[in-house]
Amino acid sequence: MRDAQGRAISYLRISVTDRCNFRCLYCMPVDGLEWLPKAEILTYEEIAEIVRQLAPAGIRRLRITGGEPTIRPDLEILIGYLKAIPGIQDVALSTNGVKLVKKAADYAAAGLDRVNMSADSLRHERIVQIARRDLGLDPIAALTAAERAGLEPVKVNMVVLRGINDDEVEDFARLTLDHPWHVRFIELMPVGEMASLTWDHVVPSAEVLERCAAAIGDLMPAADAPLGNGPAVYYRGPAAAGSVGVITPMTHSYCGSCNRVRLTADGRLRTCLFGTHEVGFRDPLRRGESIVPVFQRALAEKPPEHHLRQMDAGGLTALSQVGG
Ligand code: 5AD
Ligand code: SF4
Repeated sequence: MRDAQGRAISYLRISVTDRCNFRCLYCMPVDGLEWLPKAEILTYEEIAEIVRQLAPAGIRRLRITGGEPTIRPDLEILIGYLKAIPGIQDVALSTNGVKLVKKAADYAAAGLDRVNMSADSLRHERIVQIARRDLGLDPIAALTAAERAGLEPVKVNMVVLRGINDDEVEDFARLTLDHPWHVRFIELMPVGEMASLTWDHVVPSAEVLERCAAAIGDLMPAADAPLGNGPAVYYRGPAAAGSVGVITPMTHSYCGSCNRVRLTADGRLRTCLFGTHEVGFRDPLRRGESIVPVFQRALAEKPPEHHLRQMDAGGLTALSQVGG
């Protein structure tokens, strides 16, 4: 399926909960948000039925997101359903990693292909400072668990915050020397309630890449860049096992090659991360109707681009509400 701009839409991000066990500075207010009532949250069966209907319309790759998806009980049941749907080629998970040591093997056994893990620091006190919860997360142990379970390529997402964690860019880059991990540095997007974060905390990716090169040697474009569905650009230090990448929402626009739509936990399809363009799948689904015409209408109305760099997040108050 193509949208009105001719962009092929093949990638669906599925938020399975708006809740999270962390309260990252850049994502959620410390007291949390007003959570969706449980009755409005799609069941795993309903999510699978949506994907079953959308696969013939061109959806090929899926990502399970949140909030934090792993806090939903028995997520492996959903993974199994999604993996079994004809036409689905790739099922990935975005997680903060808290549950990975315990659950990575179960997810892999259920059919999960790979994970992206958010990790904004490698230092315990700082993880707690940014996530505003101490859940005993050991990021290296979590990433190692994912790798051992075969959830590869393992990707790491670090949101770079000036004066808060940007002195760890070098440490994250060095992780790629010995580990076959792909560390992606993400430019902070100023959305919603951002604690005390402002535009002054945005670190342009060009600067991040310079720091990576100083730490691990001259960077070459990574010819064997890990399979991805998104806008990350990858580089490799000489003799590095993994790669470093940048995701640049604040300094570059990649709306022109957008391939994705998002399903919220309560069954709304959002056609743009920023913006109010949504259609409801849940009601037609619960009435037993086909959602394909609703999907087609939504794609026809998918906006050409967002206006985040003009400080317009289109009414979105937290990325956790739409799974990033
Ligand atoms: N800016 C940049 N990235 C964000 N994420 C959430 N909020 C923001 C923000 N304001 C992304 C991060 C995090 C994932 C869960 O969502 O990549 O790792
Ligand atoms: Fe939770 Fe991820 Fe948001 Fe942090 S960034 S509060 S881990 S959803």
